[in-house]
Amino acid sequence: DPIPAPALARTPEELRRLRSRLGRVALVPTMGALHSGHRSLIAAAREHADAVVVSVFVNPLQFGPGEDYERYPRDLDADLAVCAEEGVALVFAPSVEDMYPGEQIVRVDPGPMGAVLEGAFRPGFFGGVLTVVNKLFNLVRPDIAVFGQKDAQQLALVRRMVRDLNMPVTVVAAPTMRDPDNLASSSRNAYLSPEERRSALALSRALLAGADASVTGPVGILSAARAVLDEAAQATPPVTVDYLALVDAATFTEVAGDHRGDAVLLVAARVGRTRLIDNVPLTL
Ligand code: PAJ
Repeated sequence: DPIPAPALARTPEELRRLRSRLGRVALVPTMGALHSGHRSLIAAAREHADAVVVSVFVNPLQFGPGEDYERYPRDLDADLAVCAEEGVALVFAPSVEDMYPGEQIVRVDPGPMGAVLEGAFRPGFFGGVLTVVNKLFNLVRPDIAVFGQKDAQQLALVRRMVRDLNMPVTVVAAPTMRDPDNLASSSRNAYLSPEERRSALALSRALLAGADASVTGPVGILSAARAVLDEAAQATPPVTVDYLALVDAATFTEVAGDHRGDAVLLVAARVGRTRLIDNVPLTL
């Protein structure tokens, strides 16, 4: 049977008209170049609502100077085909001019949780993310919104924004999807040469080594992961670590030896020109 194509809204006006016909909506915000990680978010969204809305928007507000905004992969036809396969009801793919008709003067301030780790290496990133997520919530008015554990700090900040600003949305988290070689699925993996990809596998290996050492506590976890990354720094091509950290899952503050509860072991590193992040949730 032919797969019914999702409805496509290119403007906020079209979105308003098409959204009004849907019941309980689960929103999956994306920047497109949809892969298996996005598919799993859509599958989770389907379980929580009558209709799934996927937004596809490469948000200029969250890219810093010298980052990959211009070369970020864009292929709306391929994304629509994925959404059709996954039973998406509506795709919202607005233009930059529709999302930002003038200067975006009022923005969401992510606070201290947005200034550490990813926020320290990408100034303004989480302000850009939370601002566009807030705009998407206001445009789509979803009952549920699904985010991936892959971007753990983003997930924690969206949860915090919803709580601190009393947004009428339930946030659902979906686990990290991995390619068969264990590299976390990412639109940016398309930038990697085969050699770079081989080096990049050190990220997931380091996290696994850390998780395997979890009974030894934070110091043991971090040194087990660090040993893998130190070796990868000598590989060809080398892996250059931006940070390796073990944080409290809710606050993103680094945990001490006596910490008990949900934690996340996080790594960010560069291989060639490509910056990659990965993480594993741990219970201490
Ligand atoms: P994007 O990188 O396209 O990711 C969209 C959603 O897919 C995010 O919630 C992300 O965590 C999730 N995701 C990506 N890779 C995943 C994987 N391997 N497994 C599970 N989930 C995965 O994140 C963004 O876009 C943007 O910052 C956005 C929230 C859309 C705001 O612009």
